[in-house]
Amino acid sequence: MPKISEREQWGSKLGFILAAAGSAIGLGSIWRFPYITGQYGGAAFVLVYTLLVFSIGISLMMAEIVIGRRGKLNAVGSFKALGGGAWSIVGWLGVIAAFIILSYYGVIGGWTIAYFIKSFTGLTSHSSSGQIAKTFEIFVSNAGSVIFYQVLFMAATIFVVYNGVGGGIERLCKICMPALFILMLILILRSVTLPGASKGLSFFLKPDFTKITGEVLLAALGQAFFSLSLGIGAMIIYGSYLPEDSNIPSSSAQICFLTLLISIMAGLIIFPSLFAFNMEPAAGAGLTFITLPVVFAKMPAGFLWSALFFVLFFFAALTSSVSLLEVVASYFIDNFGWKRSRATLVLGIIITIAGIPSALSQGAVPINLFGKSFLDAADFFASNLLMPLGGFFISLFLGWKIHNIAKEEINNLSENSFPLTKTWLFILQYIAPICIAIIFISGLRS
Ligand code: PHE
Repeated sequence: MPKISEREQWGSKLGFILAAAGSAIGLGSIWRFPYITGQYGGAAFVLVYTLLVFSIGISLMMAEIVIGRRGKLNAVGSFKALGGGAWSIVGWLGVIAAFIILSYYGVIGGWTIAYFIKSFTGLTSHSSSGQIAKTFEIFVSNAGSVIFYQVLFMAATIFVVYNGVGGGIERLCKICMPALFILMLILILRSVTLPGASKGLSFFLKPDFTKITGEVLLAALGQAFFSLSLGIGAMIIYGSYLPEDSNIPSSSAQICFLTLLISIMAGLIIFPSLFAFNMEPAAGAGLTFITLPVVFAKMPAGFLWSALFFVLFFFAALTSSVSLLEVVASYFIDNFGWKRSRATLVLGIIITIAGIPSALSQGAVPINLFGKSFLDAADFFASNLLMPLGGFFISLFLGWKIHNIAKEEINNLSENSFPLTKTWLFILQYIAPICIAIIFISGLRS
């Protein structure tokens, strides 16, 4: 196991925020958020999601970073070091969740590559939204091509983690994230000025409170965990590389804000155009891939906008998938002394194979579980069950087991440097575990 003094650290404060925001912002904001919002009724879901991000989400993000910075190891190791053996089970749970998530994350990541290429082969020259939807259907029904692109995406993920070129990725993020942001602003302008866009805006922004059910609450909880990379120890690992003089509350607030911002921006692109073209908000996992090309088709040189968007989308997904593989690999590196090369290669390949049923389940071969496609079932299990369960234990761990250490860590800059320490601990001791438990029970019963 590496000694504390040997652990590498982030080059700069911005480096950490970029890497953590890079982990958070990805398919969760641009692919998952719009389609789950569409499925669970729109604005009411968005409201619950936003509340969860700024209460439980931000508190747990701070908790994970604190655990990592103090433990100086991956999740399993940090739990063991700070709380004793039994707590390492929570870290374990995270490793399993990361394994499952990455298995289907690679599939959707592959779609971004395929759509980048399709941008040059006539994707945006279709005149009707029906044809664009058809293109998607044909693509996901082709077993060979979905697996091919999944493997390509996973190879890129493995390559980055294998070479430990996180630094390179960090630098790339510095260019890609602002570029993605500007491009999305332009797309919002295009989308909201389409004739008929206002219906979409009210679907997305005007909440109908009668739509809030236990099921909606659970979906919003799962989305908060998924999009912020919480509950599985990813932020624990990032925190373990964080220098002592960094400001955890302010970094966490920035990461949560950026993730929410990109999610809302994705919604502002997708829903106005969706309603303008009379498409179905509950289209499911294909929503982003069906709607965006319709918007590009309405722009001059649409294929270029499309290619640019999908390439940036790919990098956003890659900076997240890298952190998922890191959760799994670092466990084997820190605990079993595996070499980085062996851990990434062996585990990366196993995860890719485990993702094949998800890849096929979107149209090529009807593989279903519990009335959902295999991919949806895996996603539900990991995001709505495993991640919040991890969050439940992490909040108890920090709130009750190591609250004195936590107080010290969070006020590291000067005595009482974080004025909300008590509120934060109160959320972790009571609010977060109780809310998660209630949402679980109400969500699973409905
Ligand atoms: N937050 C990432 C996304 O939204 C997914 C992720 C989850 C990454 C958990 C790491 C850990 O795409």
